[in-house]
Amino acid sequence: MLEQLDALLVEALAAIEGTSDETALRDLEVRYLGKKGPLTELMKGMRDVPPADKPKVGARVNEVRTSVEQAIATRRDRLDSERIAKLCADPDFDASLPVSPLLAPKVGALHPLTRVTAHIEDVFRSMGFLLLDYPEVETEFHNFDALNIPATHPARDMQDTFWVDTPEGAPKMLLRTHTSTGQVRTMKTFKPPFRAIFPGRVFRYEEVDASHEHTFHQVEGLMVDRKVSVANLIYSMKTLLSEIFEREVTIRLRPGFFPFVEPGFELDIQCQVCGGKGCSVCKHSGWVELLPCGLVHPNVLRHGGLDPDEWQGWAFGLGLSRLVMMKYQIEDIRHLLGGDLRFIQQFRQG
Ligand code: DAH
Repeated sequence: MLEQLDALLVEALAAIEGTSDETALRDLEVRYLGKKGPLTELMKGMRDVPPADKPKVGARVNEVRTSVEQAIATRRDRLDSERIAKLCADPDFDASLPVSPLLAPKVGALHPLTRVTAHIEDVFRSMGFLLLDYPEVETEFHNFDALNIPATHPARDMQDTFWVDTPEGAPKMLLRTHTSTGQVRTMKTFKPPFRAIFPGRVFRYEEVDASHEHTFHQVEGLMVDRKVSVANLIYSMKTLLSEIFEREVTIRLRPGFFPFVEPGFELDIQCQVCGGKGCSVCKHSGWVELLPCGLVHPNVLRHGGLDPDEWQGWAFGLGLSRLVMMKYQIEDIRHLLGGDLRFIQQFRQG
């Protein structure tokens, strides 16, 4: 039996050495090491080996198996290197070409909100704006009072608020209903003149439908200087929109009421989903309110510790979720935070 084993090893090694491609090598692997191979057969013959010789023969069987395995692995490495060397020597081979999409691993995609936010941040940073971040759980003061919306003011009902449970006597807390909460915080932190944007999530206790979500995104902008103008505000807004849409979009400006600006405006853009014809996104009006803005109300400046006779400001509250919907013609706001990967996969780059 030991002789049979030796002969088998010699034969297997010669066959392995003689192979010139991977398929033939795999066949040899099955032939010699597989369940129906000669090694398995020889093992069956162990029954007839005298007990005294069994350890020796058993050890030899294992040695032969290991040697064949090693010879196959070495041969496989050699064949691989030869194949790669041949490929690289081919003048048509270009190692810098991208892998075929069929072979490439699955890659993720940036959420459209993330992408557009990064774009907006770039645009404003290039115009000298600071990029700031503020809490989502806020005091009633920063969300309302500081913005010239006292408790008795009807404007409080305009935004349905998620209130946070707080102990008796503690200041009332809420989930911010808009990013305007950062206005007075910014005034208290930075010495004017300054300009800043603060993007973020906002929350409203709203009935959810194709154009309303309880959680959505805004980008607030604020500029404070000795002299600021509505013309400069409108110019900045137009620059932003043409950057984001990569073309001119039709806008219209209307007077708008917000207690924290005077005068206040509503900047609408023509609905990009239906091209102005009317659809569920624009509530069949052809226009979408996108960029409410105005000159900062003197009371807000006072809350921020600034003298309205010395300082002026403009502010805007960009509806980021709507902007993203317009840019990518998304017809239902619920897609944005729905978490369906098929939605996000559509935004894969290249
Ligand atoms: N905070 C307002 C809202 O969410 C939007 C807004 C209006 C922000 C006018 C502003 C502004 O900065 O000037 O409804």
